[in-house]
Amino acid sequence: MEIIHVSAECYPVAKAGGLGDVVGALPKYQCKAGDIAKVVMPMYRTKFLYDNEWEVDFKGSSNLGNWHFDYTVIKEKTNKLGFDLYLIDINGLLDRQKIYGYNDDAERFTAFQIAVVNWLSNWEHRPDIVHCHDHHTALIPFMMQFCYDYQFLGSIPTVLTIHNGQYQGWMGWDKSIFIPRWDLWKRGMLDWEGNINPLASGVKCAGKVTTVSMSYLDELRVNANGLEKLFEYERGKCVGILNGIDNEVWDPQTDPYLEHHFDIQNVTVGKQKNKAALCARFGLNPEKPLFAFIGRLVGEKAADVLPDAIRTAIHHTQGNASFLILGSGETAVEWEFQQMTGIHSGVFNAVIGYDEKLSHHIYAGADFLLMPSRVEPCGLNQMYAMRYGTVPVVRSTGGLKDTVVDMGDFEGFGIRFDHASIADIDYSVGRAVSVYQDKTHMEWMRKHMMQIDHSWERTVDEYKAVYQSLK
Ligand code: ADP
Ligand code: GLC
Repeated sequence: MEIIHVSAECYPVAKAGGLGDVVGALPKYQCKAGDIAKVVMPMYRTKFLYDNEWEVDFKGSSNLGNWHFDYTVIKEKTNKLGFDLYLIDINGLLDRQKIYGYNDDAERFTAFQIAVVNWLSNWEHRPDIVHCHDHHTALIPFMMQFCYDYQFLGSIPTVLTIHNGQYQGWMGWDKSIFIPRWDLWKRGMLDWEGNINPLASGVKCAGKVTTVSMSYLDELRVNANGLEKLFEYERGKCVGILNGIDNEVWDPQTDPYLEHHFDIQNVTVGKQKNKAALCARFGLNPEKPLFAFIGRLVGEKAADVLPDAIRTAIHHTQGNASFLILGSGETAVEWEFQQMTGIHSGVFNAVIGYDEKLSHHIYAGADFLLMPSRVEPCGLNQMYAMRYGTVPVVRSTGGLKDTVVDMGDFEGFGIRFDHASIADIDYSVGRAVSVYQDKTHMEWMRKHMMQIDHSWERTVDEYKAVYQSLK
């Protein structure tokens, strides 16, 4: 089976969050399982582009409204990632350093999607599946069915995976001129409450829709940033498939970012060494339990509650626990964390920014990983934490609910709470500090977590079943 993944992110080419991790790993494991999976994404100006060798695969041109543009598709030469990787270059739109955050993102991703369907229409054969990820690629199923120039691609089955339904790519109807000549009777397939809504359009037009955990699919019917009714109506075509993690990249025994490798046998000593290095770097006491947070500092992750929750926990634990933050996002939250590094030095530190290497050090060296997320479609951090013997302390939502069992339940190994509130976070930190004193229990939890299979090998068959249901 030949599967074309279309995505805005793919690790290690360009990553802003978990979407990049998933699109960098799922195709590799699909290829290992015997299918032909390929990825096509925009050609941003990232380090990966300059460090690798490329060949030109195709040159074409198309229109974005009245603007005529040329595009070039390049292919990575050595199969470095374990699958064929194609980048699309559109001068003036995609040739930027960042993935998102520009005023013309709507134009950038619409042009990218037009280039993808235009390129596919020039293939000599048809792929078996076009698999789109999130709203940046969710207009493709519409284009393949209702744009006159591409309708002949309509027989190729499409799948849309929703990694994050909060962002939908809304555009005013004035931007409808960007979509290549389309059947005006199908306006309803683009519209949601008076705007063009790419994510809603993808849900309506794709053959199947998947979400990245089972619980998230249930939650979307009651909390989907305005699309609740649509998810209820389309429930028949939706499937929840829990993400995996790339066990080759995330392996404490071989992780090239780590100085002190460890496995399940020597986890206690291994983590001690990593913790000592981390604490020395950030001025923290390695004797105290270390709580970490890694992620985007945004409302979805409840980052706004964290500064007060941590201040409260520092007070209640009487300084007997340490906290380390790695993240960037809302300026107000960044500022608060920066202030706290001075006021609570010795028990608190924060790195504002994005640092892949440090994130690995933290998964290896921390005792607990805090994830109070308001919304968490899957969450990869808790799975990385578990693989590195770090106990997840999570709000019971989405994928966190599907992957973490509270230590009070049978064979439980994590800590769960219900509300993204100061009280719940503070109470959970208290539970964690208590269990930290019990070395035997901690070691049992670490070993138990490290044995859980979150590999993609377990998951690729579920995607295959979705693809086969569309044949
Ligand atoms: P989301 O995609 O919603 O941000 P996920 O849990 O799915 O959340 O994935 C987040 C990914 O991004 C993980 O690989 C995590 O380690 C990484 N990450 C997030 N913030 C940072 C950061 N500031 N520095 C390094 N890695 C980060
Ligand atoms: C999104 C979600 C996150 C999920 C990731 C990968 O960014 O917020 O929960 O793990 O996508 O699917």
